[in-house]
Amino acid sequence: MAKDFSTMEDSNRSSNLSIHDVSDPARRTLLRGGLGLSLGALLAPVAGCASGHNGAGGTGPTLGFTSVAPTSADHVRVPPGYTATPLAPWGEPVGIAGAMPAFRFDAGNTAEEQAVQMGMHHDGLQYYALDGSRRGLLAVNQEYTDESLLHADGQNAWNLDKVRKSQAAHGISVIEIEQRDQRWDVVRPSRYARRITALTPIAIGGPAAGHAMMKTAADPAGLTVLGTISNCASGQTPWGTYLSGEENWANYFTAADVPTAHERRWGINKSTWYRWPEFDARFDTVRNPNEPNRFGWIVEVDPLDPTSTPVKRTALGRAAHEGAWVAVTKDGRAVVYSGEDARFEYIYKFVSRDRIAPAGKGRTAAQANATLLDHGTLYVARFDADGSGRWLPLVHASISGQGPLTAANGFADPGEVVIKARQASDLLGATKMDRPEWLAIDEASGWVYCTLTNNTQRGTGGHPGVDAANPRANNTMGQIIRWQESGDFAGETFQWNHLLLAGDAANTRAEARGNILGDAFAGPDTIAFDSRGVLWIGTDHSASGEGEWARMGNNALLACNPVSGEVRRFLVGPVRCEITGCTWTPDGRTMFLNIQHPGSGSPRNGSKPRQFSNWPDFHPTGRPRSSTVVVRRVDGGVIGA
Ligand code: FEO
Ligand code: CA
Ligand code: CA
Repeated sequence: MAKDFSTMEDSNRSSNLSIHDVSDPARRTLLRGGLGLSLGALLAPVAGCASGHNGAGGTGPTLGFTSVAPTSADHVRVPPGYTATPLAPWGEPVGIAGAMPAFRFDAGNTAEEQAVQMGMHHDGLQYYALDGSRRGLLAVNQEYTDESLLHADGQNAWNLDKVRKSQAAHGISVIEIEQRDQRWDVVRPSRYARRITALTPIAIGGPAAGHAMMKTAADPAGLTVLGTISNCASGQTPWGTYLSGEENWANYFTAADVPTAHERRWGINKSTWYRWPEFDARFDTVRNPNEPNRFGWIVEVDPLDPTSTPVKRTALGRAAHEGAWVAVTKDGRAVVYSGEDARFEYIYKFVSRDRIAPAGKGRTAAQANATLLDHGTLYVARFDADGSGRWLPLVHASISGQGPLTAANGFADPGEVVIKARQASDLLGATKMDRPEWLAIDEASGWVYCTLTNNTQRGTGGHPGVDAANPRANNTMGQIIRWQESGDFAGETFQWNHLLLAGDAANTRAEARGNILGDAFAGPDTIAFDSRGVLWIGTDHSASGEGEWARMGNNALLACNPVSGEVRRFLVGPVRCEITGCTWTPDGRTMFLNIQHPGSGSPRNGSKPRQFSNWPDFHPTGRPRSSTVVVRRVDGGVIGA
């Protein structure tokens, strides 16, 4: 999510300017990647890494489609020979037997109805095969709500019913989908159909489970949270579960006039994006000071078991989590990468203590690994100016026997380290990044990619200056950084460079031009590799498309050959949307993605819901709806090939 950059969180006032900080952009280290190449081999612009992907050799995967031109039209545009079809918009019933209320185009559905319908503002999603590439599940994040569109009277006259509907539109949806006669449909009813909302009981696993800072009057044991919110990006584990990041949760809480230091560091203050705290005391930190500590986690869900309880995995650290993505070490341990989408915050990784267990003995793979993500070591990244980097262990001094994470410094125990992961990272001198969003792992080459979407406060008054990894002041465009671990994914050091700096070569301001080899874009957000090794990039630049974004058109999905660096625009979304999520059937012949917040910014009182967009229904008295979209080739071929 990001429609108004001025409201994005910016809470890092720590002074951990360490040796890697540089002030001269000329010292950017755009190092050619690849195994065995020397650190001294500098080039700019960078043209991609020398290592192949999945045996792709020195040239990388072909991009076999015609580039789509930028457009500001209220439609989804794809290349000739492709189709893009809406599948599961906000408000459609997910398919729970006996509870399948139809969507009301006047937004008249009740909270109870919303709780069994697709939530609002789809973000990350993942496909889980039930029958190969013909039938499966989609787990879909419902990141946030546009209250102006969610209710018939918009944001007029708040009450508890509206809060409950808003809460029911958050969370995660699971739907069953099936392909018949080249067309995908939602299966209704389905025994897998499920909604997880801001009110669903969720267990707490890992070092913060039962911690004093997690206990509330409603949950004195500190073991069960009601709900998940701000579910942004998604990842899929090798054991078949779904990982969902809680991102902008801080904006749901209100604090006292003078927030505590802990609250300030997490961006919690008096003002909120929503009016939930007036009707639900959980979101008022004066009355429930520990409730915010119960959000900001990675949530693990088993979509294949609709009776399973989701778990917040606290060993992965608390953050404004975009999402989490899993790599596997040669000896079978899980390495979970995650970022924190807030200005000047951090990139993390977690290395599991145990190896991934196989299914068997009557247990599914998910059941066999039910506590895998509760035990391991959490690290935060430091990117040094010479192109090397180091993972700094967030390990309490009582375990490591050293370091600053001590009771004297405000960390009583390992649980407090993960709850206060930002403060711990400040002390260790981690690198303050330009809003880390999605990560994508190239298991074949070992390179890990991360989008840094933008940071318009970088290098401006009172804020950190540029550094090697975040090399542009007033960074309106964003960049994609990547690194390769020393040895294996569990390595504690790495080499890094930039895949590209996003931008538009026609801009007058040098810092906004970028070095893209191909079609211009800004605001990289979603990234994901397909099975051919194409890196797909979904954008989230300014919804209004003005100024330095003026020639970009609406937000887009682009394909990148990570070996050559070539970028080609594949899909353009409708007005004021962003492109989120990207997943495929195993045969690569169907791509699912999400169109989020088309038509955002309509009047708060709900009087003109169609002011900017009426996608996808174009119903004469309807409203724009976020939706999952199915992308196919007319000839049934592999997407992008
Ligand atoms: Fe939910 Fe950072 O995007
Ligand atoms: Ca974004
Ligand atoms: Ca995002």
